[in-house]
Amino acid sequence: MDGTSLIIYRVVLVFLACLIKSLVPAQSAPDDALITQIPGFSGTFPSKHYSGYVTVDQNHGRNLFYYFVESERKPSEDPVVLWLNGGPGCSSFDGFIYEHGPFNFEKAKTKGSLPQLHLNQYSWSKVSNIIYLDSPAGVGCSYSKNHSDYTTGDRKTASDSHTFLLKWFELYPEFLSNPFFIAGESFAGVYVPTLTYEVVKGIDAGTKPIINLKGYLVGNGVTDEEFDDNALVPFVHGMGLISDELFQEVKIECGGNYHNSLNASCATKLAKVDEDIDGLNIYDILEPCYHSPEPRDITTTKSKMPASFRQLGETERPLAVRTRMFGRAWPLRAPVREGIVPTWPQLLNSNSVPCTDDEVATTWLNDETVRKALHVAEESLVGSWELCTGRITYYHDSGSMIPYHRNITSRGYRALIYSGDHDMCVPFTGSEAWTRSLDYQIVDEWRPWFSNGQVAGYTQGYEHNLTFLTVKGSGHTVPEYKPREAFDLYSRFLAGRPL
Ligand SMILES: *[C@@H]1O[C@H](CO)[C@@H](O)[C@H](O)[C@H]1NC(C)=O
Ligand SMILES: *[C@@H]1O[C@H](CO)[C@@H](O)[C@H](O)[C@H]1NC(C)=O
Ligand SMILES: *[C@@H]1O[C@H](CO)[C@@H](O)[C@H](O)[C@H]1NC(C)=O
Ligand SMILES: *[C@@H]1O[C@H](CO)[C@@H](O)[C@H](O)[C@H]1NC(C)=O
Repeated sequence: MDGTSLIIYRVVLVFLACLIKSLVPAQSAPDDALITQIPGFSGTFPSKHYSGYVTVDQNHGRNLFYYFVESERKPSEDPVVLWLNGGPGCSSFDGFIYEHGPFNFEKAKTKGSLPQLHLNQYSWSKVSNIIYLDSPAGVGCSYSKNHSDYTTGDRKTASDSHTFLLKWFELYPEFLSNPFFIAGESFAGVYVPTLTYEVVKGIDAGTKPIINLKGYLVGNGVTDEEFDDNALVPFVHGMGLISDELFQEVKIECGGNYHNSLNASCATKLAKVDEDIDGLNIYDILEPCYHSPEPRDITTTKSKMPASFRQLGETERPLAVRTRMFGRAWPLRAPVREGIVPTWPQLLNSNSVPCTDDEVATTWLNDETVRKALHVAEESLVGSWELCTGRITYYHDSGSMIPYHRNITSRGYRALIYSGDHDMCVPFTGSEAWTRSLDYQIVDEWRPWFSNGQVAGYTQGYEHNLTFLTVKGSGHTVPEYKPREAFDLYSRFLAGRPL
């Protein structure tokens, strides 16, 4: 071929390539990730489901597991949301199974048998494409061939999750132009802002593929040692769990600061507060505490709360499968401090967690046929599935989340900080206080918000598109307790509609 015809040949090739690209829709979700059937579910999937691994470190063989549910509405236009549960050490199957996934799980009649799956009318996949990510490696179905990776922290976790996202969008390029949000709850109050910050930095640096980040959501999120620590006393007083007298005393002795007080009489009063609230389920003060195999009837015999108040906490979820709340954050008065963060099994020196029953999830995800259907790697690599694992050693090494929130929101990304207002683990009083502390101008003054014609909670809107919102009568995991309200706040926020 001479020079000219070579050029023509090349031009034709490029032209053909462009033509093919424009004719074939960018539809390239990996075939082998498609889930074709799920044990326990006999119906038709309302949308496509995919699952599999993304390798975030080739040398170490570090692989993060995701379960991706396409939107049941308009997958090509609806937002893509990354969902993260907390812990640290808890699998995002918590969100999938117990909170806002496409299925409600009906517990099997006989112990150890597989649960039955039914469609969830409040699934977040009704309005969004949603990625459930197990993070960091060592949690849920994610793993590393080099176990030194199981010692980790905020920074490495955020960096790995960012790598995951970049690679995930390479696998699913058809979703790259959709609006993208990051969401999570509890200890994901650390995962979400640190990861969002990584994504923003990546966008600034022009790292490809460019993610179409729009904002983030945090539910009952761990945020700042001091704010979180100071939230409990005003919360338990406001909820009628300690007396006015004790409240006055503890306030005076501690000088209004319950964080790191060295004052001995302050410590004595705080111990009295702890004593008063000791028997409660910290994830929802209205719920009984589950003591395997039967719940000890604490709230009904000892609670000072009237029955109508207690009913606030009842879920309308059609198939409530968790007898009681699972613990996936901090025991009382153990706020997240800089340095090593104990996981639940490490804290308690056992595998059982107070007030919990996670039988359905554990049975389902340790069944060989389920694991095969979901493309989970073999057990010799991943280990058995635990809702919250003690396999990892985790360092909180990014300090307070407040500077992250300030930085991201000031860049124009939207934020929704929501709180189930009966959670004593990460009480709304802390989230309300730290959002206020940013000193952003109030643009939507404290008011009720509505769901199904009822007051569903309260909200205050700030400049920079930062919104604080409570969900009335909800515990720690809002979509579990209040699925309809959670669905409403979620879909309105994603759509940029008033809450
Ligand atoms: C695991 O990773 C650590 C840290 O990078 C490295 O020192 C070690 O050699 C690795 N082990 C194996 C078996 O590759
Ligand atoms: C500290 O303790 C003393 C009593 O030992 C008390 O009088 C004082 O007010 C306490 N509180 C503060 C904030 O200093
Ligand atoms: C946010 O963080 C980036 C990266 O560290 C920094 O360059 C920028 O100045 C920060 N912006 C604000 C408003 O704090
Ligand atoms: C808030 O979000 C809306 C909707 O996405 C956007 O139009 C607006 O510019 C944002 N405002 C600020 C102050 O970033």
